[in-house]
This record gives sequence, structure tokens and C-alpha cells, in this order.
Amino acid sequence: MRPLSNRLQVIFDQVPVGAKVADVGTDHAYLPIALAKAGKAESIIACDIKEKPLQKARENIEKFGVSTVETRLGDGISPIKEGEADTVIIAGMGGDVITHILSNCPWIKNPGVFLMLQPMTGAEVLRGFLNSNLFSIEKEIPLLDAGKVYSVMLVRYSGKKESLPAGFEFSGKVSAETNEGRLYLEKQRKRVFDCARSLSSIDGKEAEARYYTEILNHLNTLLGI
Ligand SMILES: C[S@@+](CC[C@H](N)C(=O)[O-])C[C@H]1O[C@@H](n2cnc3c(N)ncnc32)[C@H](O)[C@@H]1O
Repeated sequence: MRPLSNRLQVIFDQVPVGAKVADVGTDHAYLPIALAKAGKAESIIACDIKEKPLQKARENIEKFGVSTVETRLGDGISPIKEGEADTVIIAGMGGDVITHILSNCPWIKNPGVFLMLQPMTGAEVLRGFLNSNLFSIEKEIPLLDAGKVYSVMLVRYSGKKESLPAGFEFSGKVSAETNEGRLYLEKQRKRVFDCARSLSSIDGKEAEARYYTEILNHLNTLLGI
């Protein structure tokens, strides 16, 4: 098998040894196959909502000769019963889709379940959901893959509301100390700056413009601007 993309490699590296893994939205199943080949996980279930990607996953599992990856069809985490996985990976989807998947699974509200989340877009929607539903983002790992910057969120249910700065949804726990972190925060800053500027010229949108300006201040502080 060719090497994992940097995005999947970062997730692979964070999977605890001996984990019971569920890869939700597996598509090609490259990550489950790499985990199985490395003998890193105790069990691996690869799920997808669509039959076609799951068929691709089965073909790859056979092609790369790993017998320990089980495949299941279904929406989100619904094919996995409580206790079957302690590490749930949801990567390569929009933040809104990941939010939908998490909101439909009550058993992940357990500090013993480790969530590894990697949104392609809409990370702020996901962070807002996590914070209001008492999940804690313990760490974020910003990364570059094919010229684009993403963040992998390492998350657990804490049951406690964290007091987070205004604008946290856009920065998460990414710091500007690494090149990837700086690029991530600069990307988010540009989006917020564009929103604040457009809104400031529209009558009746003053409150929204102020909201984005507050977020901009938070990102500026993190970036030392
Ligand atoms: C772009 S692929 C990502 C594959 C892989 N996880 C990665 O990060 O490279 C997204 C996959 O998620 C699946 N998907 C989308 N919504 C889903 C849902 N609600 N439940 C399960 N799978 C879903 C799609 O069918 C597709 O195969």
C-alpha cells in the first residue's frame, strides 16, 4: 500500500495502541488497513453510509490481505454498539456532517470514548457543538496536506462546560507556535476578516459585524498581530 496521506498519517499516529477503533465514513479504508497492518489496534470496524465506498473498502481490505478489519453499512455511528469501540475516528467530512453524526449517538457521551475528528470545512460549527454539548477538545494538531491546512481534534466527553474565549470556535486549541498552526490561524483569520468587512458595510448588520470583529481580535492576539 502507498504511504498514507499526511492527514491520515497524523490521525494514525494518535490512535492509542490496543484501541478498539471505529472509522466512520471510511471510504477506501486506507486508515483501518494501515492500523491493521501495523497491529496497532485490538479491533477495527470500518463503516460507511453508502454501499459503493464500503465495497471499495472491502476490495482494499482483501487486496492488502488484512483479515482483522470488519466493515459495516449505516449512517454515522449507528452501526456500532456501545462497548464495541473506544476510539471513534470521523475524518474527511464537513464539520456539519460530523456534528450530525455525533448528535445522533448518545453512547459517545462517555469520558472513556476517545473521538478523533478531522473536518475538511466548517470546523467552527463542530467546535461550537462540542462546547455546548460538554465535550472537551483536549488537543488539536494542525497539519498540511496537498497544500491545504486542516486540524485534527482529539476530543472526549467531560460533562463540564468550559469557559472559552470569544472566537474559540474559529481557533480551537491551535497555537501559532508551529508553521502549520500559524497557517491554520491565518486561514481562519482571513475568513473572519472578509465576513467582518462585508457586514460592516450593510445597514442592520452592525451586531453581526461586531461579533466577527471580536473573533478577529481573538485571532489577532493568537497571531501576535
Ligand atoms: C471524503 S470520504 C473520507 C474518507 C476517509 N475518512 C478520509 O478521511 O480520507 C467521506 C466518506 O464519508 C461517508 N459519509 C458521509 N456521510 C456519512 C455518514 N453520515 N455516515 C457514515 N459515512 C458517511 C461518505 O460516503 C464517504 O465515503
